[in-house]
Amino acid sequence: ATGSTPLGLYAELAKLCAEGKLSFAKCTTFNLDEYIGLDGTHDQSYRYFMNKNLFEKVDIRMEATHVPSGAVKSDEEAEQYDAEIKAAGGIDLQLLGIGNNGHIGFNEPDDHFSKGTHCVDLTESTIQANSRLFDSIDDVPRQAYTMGTQTIMYARMILVVANGEAKAQAVHDMCYGPVTPECPASILQLHTNCVVVADEAALSLCE
Ligand code: F6R
Repeated sequence: ATGSTPLGLYAELAKLCAEGKLSFAKCTTFNLDEYIGLDGTHDQSYRYFMNKNLFEKVDIRMEATHVPSGAVKSDEEAEQYDAEIKAAGGIDLQLLGIGNNGHIGFNEPDDHFSKGTHCVDLTESTIQANSRLFDSIDDVPRQAYTMGTQTIMYARMILVVANGEAKAQAVHDMCYGPVTPECPASILQLHTNCVVVADEAALSLCE
């Protein structure tokens, strides 16, 4: 996952790696999502984010890191992503953040759960939330590629991280609400090995 929430975790992983307590030399990674229309050198692309915040700070082999390519819109290429994950043996640990509206990856509230990696139109709520990182809201891409909900559910273990009051409703609905595509994260209630790590503000509606 990219976003603000895992930044502390990535900094900690980089620190442990620098201290020789951890190695990524044998790791393969697959990121969840990427904006369409930004290439990997754009400072708001998720490839750039991952390079700067984790990959360049640890001993991972760059060729073992995968981020859906958003530079050119190619739905065929996006569909290939699931085949690449499968060929790599599937995902052992999927790290997730959660959107204010309950999205995971860029799987937005909808009337059905998504399956494989696909193109999505971002909701106004997500465009608004992500505009803090762009010069203006008009610069925020309107589409993205994201792993589907099914792709995420195939992971053997899922770790969700959340912090801050803005996430309280989404965290509550993820854990205790009905399992519904209106809160995509609620499907995680059906996963057999999912752990949520959140601060008190994000847990404030979970009594
Ligand atoms: C990003 C991603 C998103 C974020 C979510 C929370 O790769 O998958 O689902 O995890 O939007 O973002 P932050 O952590 O910035 O609040």
